[in-house]
Amino acid sequence: MAQHAETSRVSILGSDSIVVGYNLIKEMLKEIVSELPSSTYVLITDTNIAPLHLDTFLTTFAELTANIEKPPRLIWQTVAPGEHSKSRKTKASIEDWMLQNRCTRDSVLLALGGGVIGDMAGYIAATFMRGIKFVQIPTTLLSMVDSSIGGKTAIDVPLGKNLIGAFWQPQRIFVDLAFLETLPEREFINGMAEIIKTAAFWDESEFKRLEDNVDKFLTAFRNRNHETGIVDLSSIQTMLHALVVGSIKVKAYVVSADEREGGLRNILNFGHTIGHAYEAILTPQVLHGECVSIGMIKEAELSRYLGLLPDSAVARLSKILTAYGLPISSSDSIIRERTNNRPTPVDQLMRTMAVDKKNAGAQKKVVLLTAIGKTYELKATGVSDAAIRTVLSPDVIVKSSSLPADAKVEVIPPGSKSITNRALLMAALSSTTTKMHNLLRSDDTEHMMNAITQLYGAEFTWITGGSGEDVLEVKGKGGQLVASPDEIYLGNSGTSSRFLAAVATLVKPSSSADSIVLTGNKRMKERPIAPLVDALRNNGSGIEYLGTVGCLPLRIAAGQHLKGGRIELAATISSQYVSALLMAAPYAETPTTLALVGGKPISQSYIDMTIAMMASFGVHVKKSTTEQYAYEIPQGVYSAPPEYVVESDASSATYPLAFSAITGTTCVVPNIGSSSLQGDAKFAVDVLRPMGCEVIQTATSTTVTGPAVGKLRPLKKVDMEPMTDAFLTASVLAAVAHEEGEKAIPTQIVGIANQRVKECDRIAAMVKELGKFGVFACELPDGIEIHGVESLSDLTIPEGGVHTYDDHRVAMSFSLLGAVAPGPVLIKERRCVEKTWPGYWDVFNYKFKVELEGFEDQNDVVARKFVPNNGRSIFIIGMRGAGKTSVGGWIADALGMKFQDLDPYLEEKAGKTIPQVIHEDKWEGFRKLELEVLKEVMGKFPSGYVFACGGGIVETPEARDLLQAYTASAGIVIHVHRDVKLIMEYLSVDVTRPSYVDDMFAVWQRREQWFADCSNFFIYNSDLSDDAEIAHFKLTLRSVLETMIGASTVHEKILAKPKSFFLSLTYPDVQVAMPVIDKITAGSDVLELRVDLLQSAPHEQSPSVAYVQEQIGIIRKYTAIPILFTVRTVSQGGKFPDHDYTKALELIMLALKLGVAYVDVELTWPNSMIQKIIDARRFTKLIASNHDFSGKWKWDGPEWPTKYQEAAVGEWADVIKFVGYATCRMDNVLLEQFRESHKDKPFLGINMGKAGQLSRVLNSLLTPVTHPLLPVKAAPGQLSVEEIMTAAKLIGDE
Ligand SMILES: NC(=O)c1ccc[n+]([C@@H]2O[C@H](COP(=O)([O-])OP(=O)(O)OC[C@H]3O[C@@H](n4cnc5c(N)ncnc54)[C@H](O)[C@@H]3O)[C@@H](O)[C@H]2O)c1
Ligand SMILES: [Zn+2]
Repeated sequence: MAQHAETSRVSILGSDSIVVGYNLIKEMLKEIVSELPSSTYVLITDTNIAPLHLDTFLTTFAELTANIEKPPRLIWQTVAPGEHSKSRKTKASIEDWMLQNRCTRDSVLLALGGGVIGDMAGYIAATFMRGIKFVQIPTTLLSMVDSSIGGKTAIDVPLGKNLIGAFWQPQRIFVDLAFLETLPEREFINGMAEIIKTAAFWDESEFKRLEDNVDKFLTAFRNRNHETGIVDLSSIQTMLHALVVGSIKVKAYVVSADEREGGLRNILNFGHTIGHAYEAILTPQVLHGECVSIGMIKEAELSRYLGLLPDSAVARLSKILTAYGLPISSSDSIIRERTNNRPTPVDQLMRTMAVDKKNAGAQKKVVLLTAIGKTYELKATGVSDAAIRTVLSPDVIVKSSSLPADAKVEVIPPGSKSITNRALLMAALSSTTTKMHNLLRSDDTEHMMNAITQLYGAEFTWITGGSGEDVLEVKGKGGQLVASPDEIYLGNSGTSSRFLAAVATLVKPSSSADSIVLTGNKRMKERPIAPLVDALRNNGSGIEYLGTVGCLPLRIAAGQHLKGGRIELAATISSQYVSALLMAAPYAETPTTLALVGGKPISQSYIDMTIAMMASFGVHVKKSTTEQYAYEIPQGVYSAPPEYVVESDASSATYPLAFSAITGTTCVVPNIGSSSLQGDAKFAVDVLRPMGCEVIQTATSTTVTGPAVGKLRPLKKVDMEPMTDAFLTASVLAAVAHEEGEKAIPTQIVGIANQRVKECDRIAAMVKELGKFGVFACELPDGIEIHGVESLSDLTIPEGGVHTYDDHRVAMSFSLLGAVAPGPVLIKERRCVEKTWPGYWDVFNYKFKVELEGFEDQNDVVARKFVPNNGRSIFIIGMRGAGKTSVGGWIADALGMKFQDLDPYLEEKAGKTIPQVIHEDKWEGFRKLELEVLKEVMGKFPSGYVFACGGGIVETPEARDLLQAYTASAGIVIHVHRDVKLIMEYLSVDVTRPSYVDDMFAVWQRREQWFADCSNFFIYNSDLSDDAEIAHFKLTLRSVLETMIGASTVHEKILAKPKSFFLSLTYPDVQVAMPVIDKITAGSDVLELRVDLLQSAPHEQSPSVAYVQEQIGIIRKYTAIPILFTVRTVSQGGKFPDHDYTKALELIMLALKLGVAYVDVELTWPNSMIQKIIDARRFTKLIASNHDFSGKWKWDGPEWPTKYQEAAVGEWADVIKFVGYATCRMDNVLLEQFRESHKDKPFLGINMGKAGQLSRVLNSLLTPVTHPLLPVKAAPGQLSVEEIMTAAKLIGDE
């Protein structure tokens, strides 16, 4: 347990009412009893917290009040944990309970819990008897630093969170940090988001403290006692205290200055404007702080987009959030997993923001940053919808630029990666301190910095530079590295691994380690390093391979320094080996001669870069005068200059320069010039100048002015071997380059064969995408030929946008064409630029004045969840004898695919029959082979096949994993099944198959769950006796399959009809209706199966899954009509037990697996249950239903509109179905008015009762109908199709 430490008091709104410390229960109760005297204290908490802490409260209270003459009483009440409890219902029930318990105006309420308890209990305090005193006792980190402070109280209503509430200040806030000992890790991290938020907008030094102590915090919180569930906070106690007090102080200050949200208070909302919009979609699976974390990044990106915040600050924010385990995008894997891949459509986010209390009109209020710890204004700033939409959108539409022709724009692209990593290493090895500017922040640099820190090789400090950019201060230790016992992890960073392998030989032993271990990720452990290790070993260092010989991980002995002298190295594989040795060599015991043997070294330009950079760090390497490819390295210690600006990446610089080339403007890149060592630095002189640009290049800067718009000249033939990455930029320029003359001259770019194996085949990609602009281009063996258009107006606008192949260079190149094309150009997946230039679009927009518009392809939104099958192979599993072969064949026929039984496939592969395999290799050998076959076909035949697996495939755990992974990736695995009795019969007569070892029924029981787990669809194979039945079933199968794969048009067709109907089957066993099924469904579009009425035996509460399965099998045998699956509960007019949610959900999951067309979802079900249905459905349509039998809900009353919002807001409902009760004709008129004013969603609205019959005639979508042949009507007032059509005709409503 944490020691008792100092207690602090923080003042808010002029009173010292916030107390922060450890183990405060006794102190707080003393203070409460003496300072807030009352006869009754009411403690509200939740059922998670009560068992952990309530006892201490009760006993301490009893002790404290034992000697008082008329002791006050402490009564308490618990509510369920979670956001659900922030409801009208909970509030009302607690209020009633308080009234029953004779609470009065002098009662004092104690809110013990997280934000849910604080908000809800606080609101009770605000309204109970017009307001009573209350005390906040927050128990989560989030509530300690945020929700308990400021006096905001609220509950949630169907239309949104926190919409009903009051400002009501607590008398005291006791922040007892010891409560955090029992807090779950995820809740701790959730609270960290708010702490990071406060530091991010207010206090850079606090932000830094958070950055520096990530490991300490996380280690403390992850170190939980398994038995007690308690974490030991002692190691972070002081820091945690300071951090919480710091955060509270900011909030208290802001609230005190602006109690009721005049302006300043909004500043606390950094990350919340956009964060709340995500929360509305992702809750409850994703927590508030987690959504705020995403919101912070989007709002920081928005600040960057508006030209206010440098990219380095956004990177810094992302890094700290990620380090604490918080998500930074809704596409992060943790979010996708937790929400089952729920889409977050930009339209929906924008709409949610529009109803946010804090936003006014067309402008949304967002807290904009100008640096870490600094905001643009001391309040939220109005930002246009267009800007927010662009930042949130995955795609971007590039419109024209409004930059005047004489404009001169300066752009500094992000730092070069190669230079950044070399500079970092040499700065660390220096004896001096340097400030590094324009560092590229990438995984590589992170790994390098972490490793150096781990070896105590330097101190890194981020500081904010003059224009808000983050500058890295590196305090070098002159090469004094010290061994640390922990492995040094380098991810997949090639440069870091190679450079550090050489530099690590400088390490000295420490008391805790006499060697160090360098390791990396799986890929890194396969990449070669042997030539470097050989050279180092030969020079006296002790290096050992811990895994595969020739690869990481390496163990490097401490204290075995390089001897210097002659080092030989084969340098034909990687120049990184050479650079590594060059940079380490000055620290060897004698001067070094590095001889590169085995022929011409590869990538000489990188070697030259290293040597030139070493010179700027004070060590001058000489080329040998006697030997080719050899270098003399003197001994010495680097001395970094006081300021070091990392040269911008020259490939990135080609885009802004080309922008000026194509638009006739002027662009300056101030830190790349003729002395640059990067190959692409030649782009301006070698490519742009010949194309007609004016290029002025000094040693350190490049300025390009384009010719008049449309006057670029073709290059004819250019070899871009020295700057291959820049060929894409050149290609888009060539696309609009044109020479006056008889015959148009194309541009040929050669020497770029390596570009075929980059992020994509870039040559092919350019040819294809240029074609979409109407530019003819073709591939050359090692290049591309481009025929420029005559004038810019000849460019066509790519239909469906430019595909970027997730390749940053493709995206950036085509953005240039977009700016001059005669119309807006859509660039897909705009975020791919983040690989090298996260702020690219922002610069494009605010520097080059190119108008951008965010775009999200609705198909992509849908695809995120409902991936249509697109011919992907389908797997069929199920018991032998279930009919996999015949059903599989029918499926293949229906979908135009090929059918393959895997048993004969296996026999062919093995070269013997299955009985032979089993005989020779035993069952074990057979199962192994079966698994191999499954793997093989999954890999070899990803599309076009329907495969039937052997019945026992699910016996092998690895096979189950494969099948489950297949369904998880939206692949289709169908479980085919039929009546178990029939299967058993079939198996016992089938003498050609090897018999089971176990009793067959036991086999089925063992496998049943596995079949269910491994499949996402289910087909019940009814006993089909003749060809006619088979033909009929095949027809049904086709429409069911269409629903399963997302190809069904049933719903669309129904929506297009002027009137559509469904007929209800209200039998305990549908078999009886089958002889007349075609007659009774005539005229109906859908058949409703009232699952709640099914009964296999009298007195059964609810039907079994197996029975329902069979019943659907029966229906499908007789009719192909789409099925509506309805589990109607008692309170909604059916027979299903109201609270048996588990069973109801189980049945609905079955329906989804069966691929029914529609499922009825009662809005009275818990949100969590509805969410599960939403998550599991693929293409099944959902009908959100609600019934009122009381007749009390009037169509012009408040209930129906509220319900409608509830159903419409989540976007999941495909149809909204409301059934009211008419007591008079007017009720039908009111319903029609309601119908008129509620058109967001397809709506089915009727009134029950005789007086409601008119509404059945007027309703047009899916009116429930009866049929004269049915024994009873499903509901009073129900009409038949014929009756409705006649009536409609009579009243002229056809
Ligand atoms: N009023 C405001 O200004 C304000 C500000 C931010 C958030 N909020 C509100 O706060 C709510 C979220 O608060 P929260 O994050 O504290 O969630 P919470 O109250 O739901 O608590 C989170 C979980 O932790 C459990 N828990 C709480 N303390 C514990 C402890 N000491 N040991 C073990 N388990 C514990 C709870 O039972 C719950 O399951 C939201 O409703 C949000 O709207 C309000
Ligand atoms: Zn918050």
